[in-house]
Amino acid sequence: MPDVHAQSNSRATHASHSGEMVLARLPEISGGAQLLRVVAGRQDAELIGGATRDLLLARTPKELDVVVESGAELLAQELAAALADAGASSDAGLQRGAHERFETAFVSWREGRIDITTRRGESYPSPGSLPDVRAGSPDDDLRRRDFTVNAIAVGLAGPRRAQLRSAPHSLEDLEAGRLRILHERSFLDDPTRLLRLARYSARLGFEPEQRTAQLAAEALRAGALGSVSPARIGAELRLALREEDPVGSLVALAELGVLGALDPPLSFSEQLARGGLAALPADGRSDPLLLASLLVSLDPGDGAAREAATKAFLDRLEFAASDRERATRAALRAPALVAALAAARSPSQLRRSVRGEPLEAIALAAAMDELQPPAPAASAARRWLDELRHVRLQVTGDDLLSAGVAPGPEVGRLLDALLDMVLDGKLGDSREAQLQAALGART
Ligand code: CTP
Repeated sequence: MPDVHAQSNSRATHASHSGEMVLARLPEISGGAQLLRVVAGRQDAELIGGATRDLLLARTPKELDVVVESGAELLAQELAAALADAGASSDAGLQRGAHERFETAFVSWREGRIDITTRRGESYPSPGSLPDVRAGSPDDDLRRRDFTVNAIAVGLAGPRRAQLRSAPHSLEDLEAGRLRILHERSFLDDPTRLLRLARYSARLGFEPEQRTAQLAAEALRAGALGSVSPARIGAELRLALREEDPVGSLVALAELGVLGALDPPLSFSEQLARGGLAALPADGRSDPLLLASLLVSLDPGDGAAREAATKAFLDRLEFAASDRERATRAALRAPALVAALAAARSPSQLRRSVRGEPLEAIALAAAMDELQPPAPAASAARRWLDELRHVRLQVTGDDLLSAGVAPGPEVGRLLDALLDMVLDGKLGDSREAQLQAALGART
C-alpha cells in the first residue's frame, strides 16, 4: 500500500490556496452554505471525493461528499434542519436517510444531495465482492478510493480548515488530467472501477495513466467483470447512460474493452447512437434509445428467442421493467421498421408502418438507415417524427356521435380513414369538410 501523506512543505502554499479556493466556491453549490454553517463547530469534517475534485477543477459537483470521524447521522439531521430553515421543504423533496452498519447518512433535496460517510478502511474478502468495512484512519479513508483525483480531502472547519490531504500524485494527476488507481489490485478488488474509469475519462476528458491503462486491460483479459454481480455492472451502465455526454461514455467503455467483455459481449457504433439521438424528438427518451443501440449488436437469432435473451440480459443487469421493454422493443423492431418505412409510398402508409411503435424504435430505424445512404427510410422516419405525427383532425369521436354516427367500432374506423385522407392531402383542415367526409364514408 502506498503511504498517504499530508501535503509536503513544498506544496503547502499551493495546497492551502487550493483548499481556500474549494471553500470559497462551496457556497455557490446548493447546500454548500448550510454545510459550512453546520460543521462550523466540528474539527473532523472534510469535503472529499468528486466534490473536492470538481471544485478544484472549477466544475459544479452533482453532490457533496463529506467524511467525519463519527456522528454521520446526527450531521445529516442537522443539515436537514438547516436546509429546511433555508427553504428546502418536503415539497422540495427534502429527504434524509442513514445506513447504520456502514455509518453513512445522506440528505437530498430537489437541487442537491450531501452524502456523509464515517472514515473507514476497506478490504475485499474476494475479488469483485463488496468490501468488508472497518473504522479507519483519515489515511485509510483516502487509500480505499478508486482514483487519485478522487482521493483529495479539504478540512471544512476548525484547525484543519482549508487544509488539503491527498493520496500520492493526486494533485499532479488532477492538474495533468490523469486517472490513476491507488494500488495494483484496485480493478481486481472492485471491477466496477473499470466502468468508472471510462465514465470519468469521458466526462473530465482525462487520460488513464499508463500503468492504470495496463492494469485495466489485464483485469479485463482476466475476466474481472465476471466476478462482480451483474446488478452492479448494470448500475454503472445506467450512470454512463445518464452522463451529460452519454455517447462519449459509451465510446470510452467500448474503447477500453468493457462492452466487449460483458456477457454476452456488446459492441457500440457511435454513428448509430448519435444518429438515433439526432432523430429522437424531445418527447422521446435517450437512455432506452442508447441502450437499444447497444442491444442491436447482440447475436441475431429467431425473433422470440432473441427477445427473451435480450430481456433476460437486461433483467440480470437490473434495468427497470419500463426501460427494459422500451429498449428491447426499439432494438428488435428497428431493423424491420427500416424496410417498412422505405416501402411507404404515402403519408398514410407511413403512419401504418410506424403505428404503435415507440419513438425510440423509429429514431433508431432512421439512424440504422442513415448508415447506408441514400437512406429513404431515414427521411420517412424524420418526416413522421418531426411533422406528420403531430397532424390532428378538427373533429372528434363525440362530434361524429352528435352527427348521428352509431356508437361502436365505426367511430374509430371513420376517424382513422379521415386522418389518412388529411395526411395524404385528400381532405382539408376545415371541421365542416371533415364532418361531411366522415358522414359520406359511413357504411
Ligand atoms: N468510490 C470508490 N470506488 C467505487 C465507488 C466509489 O473508491 N467503486 C469512492 C471514490 O473515492 C468516490 C467516492 O467513493 O469519489 C464517492 O463515490 P461516487 O459518489 O460514486 O462518486 P463521486 O466521487 O461523487 O463522483 P461523481 O462525480 O461521479 O458522483
